[in-house]
Amino acid sequence: MQIDWHQILIECKINVKASIKPFLKTIKDPQPNLGVGAGGDAMKPMDLAAETAILDTLKSHDVSFTLISEESGVKKFGEAAEECIVTLDPIDGSTNFMHGLPFYCCSIAISRHPMLADAYAGMVADLVHGATYTAIKGKGAYRDDEKIKPSTTAVLQDAVIGLDLNTYKVKEVVPKLTSLIAETKHIRHFGANALELCFVADGSTDAFVDIRGKLRTTDVAAAFLILKEAGGIMTTPNNHVLNVELDPKQTLSFVASGNMQIHQKILTLVKSLC
Ligand code: IPD
Ligand code: CA
Repeated sequence: MQIDWHQILIECKINVKASIKPFLKTIKDPQPNLGVGAGGDAMKPMDLAAETAILDTLKSHDVSFTLISEESGVKKFGEAAEECIVTLDPIDGSTNFMHGLPFYCCSIAISRHPMLADAYAGMVADLVHGATYTAIKGKGAYRDDEKIKPSTTAVLQDAVIGLDLNTYKVKEVVPKLTSLIAETKHIRHFGANALELCFVADGSTDAFVDIRGKLRTTDVAAAFLILKEAGGIMTTPNNHVLNVELDPKQTLSFVASGNMQIHQKILTLVKSLC
């Protein structure tokens, strides 16, 4: 059966948006204790509603798949579940959502094997402003209907660079980034890393650096494909090929850049944790 993943992913986005809307009215209310998700964070009602919306959409298309989700973990659906891996972060930017901050997204990647570099279809959907980033392996990356490409900015002083400093290991992580911060003028972090990687893919920002070793593969799987298909670069902080197992508990560190010149400059300044 030929599956039109682009169409199904867009349907997922529409259904996720509808499913989380009611929760926007209750974010200030006390939240039920739903336990901890497979990725290790407390689950919120809208995370589960978004995941259910995606599962229902996939089931309505009779797709067999193995789910790798930040919320429910690994589960098999249908008779040929091994043939298709769906790696999911139903809501990336849950803290933003809960604080009424308008920056969160949904991330879905499709692959044949549970490896990051194996994804062949992916979507990161901005659930606030509406932009939908998609990629099919070998066919480029798109923001809605427009083909995207990363920035050519190679001058660090001109660059806008995303930097995730959310960590309890501040004393270990921050010193490795001070040289980079000192060389730049425009550092950003919005709080939904999947979408921030898509900003590198479409040239809105010039790079995104996360060397905490904390970000999960479920957040990165779709954006990794989108960035690569757009023509961007994403490696470990040591400049090794990035390819890890897709698993809700698997974490990674990376430098993602719009072009090779700025990538090399950032790698030189970032002292690796590894
Ligand atoms: C979080 C966001 C945030 C990053 C955290 C992630 P979540 O994802 O991507 O920007 O700093 O490490 O956990 O928990 O909202 O899916
Ligand atoms: Ca999440």
